Amino acid sequence: MRLTKLAKEQLSKFLQPGDSAIDATVGNGQDTVFLAMQVGLSGQIHGFDIQDDALINARQLIEKQAPESNVELYLAGHEKMDKHLPDNMRSNSAAAVFNLGYLPGGNKSVTTRTNTTLMALDLAWAKYLKPRGMLSILCYPGHPGGQEETEAVGDWLIKINAKVITTRSLGPVLHLVQK
Ligand SMILES: C[S@@+](CC[C@H](N)C(=O)[O-])C[C@H]1O[C@@H](n2cnc3c(N)ncnc32)[C@H](O)[C@@H]1O
Repeated sequence: MRLTKLAKEQLSKFLQPGDSAIDATVGNGQDTVFLAMQVGLSGQIHGFDIQDDALINARQLIEKQAPESNVELYLAGHEKMDKHLPDNMRSNSAAAVFNLGYLPGGNKSVTTRTNTTLMALDLAWAKYLKPRGMLSILCYPGHPGGQEETEAVGDWLIKINAKVITTRSLGPVLHLVQK
């Protein structure tokens, strides 16, 4: 099974209508729409991406597939989530989804970076995820800098000392962690 599908399968068992969640890497919006559908009209999703093109695609997808949903998208790096997320998201996010790497169909040289990824993981984990909230991190080692980022995420997971379920499929690595 594709790791994106596996992550969604696990998150769907866990997310409830009315929940809040963070999409740390919106990209073309597939994960954002999925999260919006899980939390329903009473829930809220906050999403981040540094590329305008990504947010344009994501907005179109949301308009088509989840037009009534309560989604806030920020043209900003996830490492700056603190500047954008409302106070009511603190210790209140049921899930945070990081699908690292580059925008599918976009500029492959614009990728997530180790430094900012780790900053965002720290914030999501310590400040925004609620107790028992789920962190999903999909790492792609294949692009320049991807191997370093994948290893750094592995080290970060050791540092937070949480129970992690890790699945590998040749290159990509999916980590699911409950707070
Ligand atoms: C693999 S794609 C995400 C796919 C997406 N979740 C989807 O469902 O289509 C990774 C995305 O991370 C974005 N990105 C790179 N650096 C970022 C940062 N510092 N903060 C937020 N997004 C970033 C890229 O622009 C790219 O769109």
